[in-house]
Amino acid sequence: SPTKETNSRYDQQELISKLPKAETGIPAKDLYLYKGFWHPRSFLEGTISLQQDSKPINPTDIILCSAPKAGFTWLKSLCYAIITRDQLDESSSPLLTNVSHSLIPYMEIDLVKNPPNRNPEFPLLSTHSPFTSLPESVRNTPDCKIIYICRDPKDTLVSQWHYIKHMMIDGVSIEFWFDRFREGKIPWGPYWDHVLGYWKASIEMPEKVLFLKYEDLKKKTSFCVKRLAEFMGKPFSHQEEVEGLPEKMVKLCSFENLSNLEVNKVGKVEATGQKEIGNGAFFRKGIIGDWKNCLTSEMIETLDRITREMFTGSDLVF
Ligand code: A3P
Repeated sequence: SPTKETNSRYDQQELISKLPKAETGIPAKDLYLYKGFWHPRSFLEGTISLQQDSKPINPTDIILCSAPKAGFTWLKSLCYAIITRDQLDESSSPLLTNVSHSLIPYMEIDLVKNPPNRNPEFPLLSTHSPFTSLPESVRNTPDCKIIYICRDPKDTLVSQWHYIKHMMIDGVSIEFWFDRFREGKIPWGPYWDHVLGYWKASIEMPEKVLFLKYEDLKKKTSFCVKRLAEFMGKPFSHQEEVEGLPEKMVKLCSFENLSNLEVNKVGKVEATGQKEIGNGAFFRKGIIGDWKNCLTSEMIETLDRITREMFTGSDLVF
């Protein structure tokens, strides 16, 4: 009922107003500490709403997850190409005219604020939410699959720093972002905890949670594409493999191809109040190890030490 909705909205605002808050300096991007992670407010509202009512999510949906700047655009493009391959090929794919973020709804934003007219044939959803803040139905329904992508913390930090610079008129120093990253006061940080949450879930429920690394995707893309297709319940047939379909998808979603499309050169995705962000911000270098060009040796040492400490006993190495 409307009254119930108003009440729960009121409760939600009340809850958020009591959370620890961190200012980022980016307009409308303050962060709130909720269940151990720093969330931007607009997403946090959606996170909480979905915990209270996860009806918009179907039990057979596939949820794509990552912390910002770990390779989400790429993962989304590949999954989109794989899932839609019966109807679309490399010449008719909407990936040629849309950045993948606008093809796959964000659970907390699109599903909650303006529920899209969802096509039941299209199961993909996306989120930056940490594993523990996913709706219970997503965590506990065996058929609802989760695909997570992570990346070397050093490259993630550097990629985030470049992205944040797009949002700020006065720029942001690498020292500033390094401190934020290390403290975990970044969107959906601490990064290490974000990665660990999904890693543990993938160990406990390998049929349900697929854990990918950007570095592996980079080094053996075709292999990962086949793995993704299998995991999503749409394995490539022998005929499709003979026809080279996995390789065609690798090419369609390659950095070289996507970053040179008109939509990704001039299209715009978001306005932050200060500066508009073009789709081009999702495509910078697309390589492993650019941190060597951006971080000081002290920063590298500190990050490697934290990574070692945090990932001890997990088999997770970068
Ligand atoms: P760099 O800033 O290191 O270049 P996200 O998609 O999670 O926002 O992450 C963006 C990072 O992924 C950027 O990293 C971007 O260049 C890289 N990226 C985007 N599309 C890619 C692709 N098709 N292949 C490889 N890397 C890609």
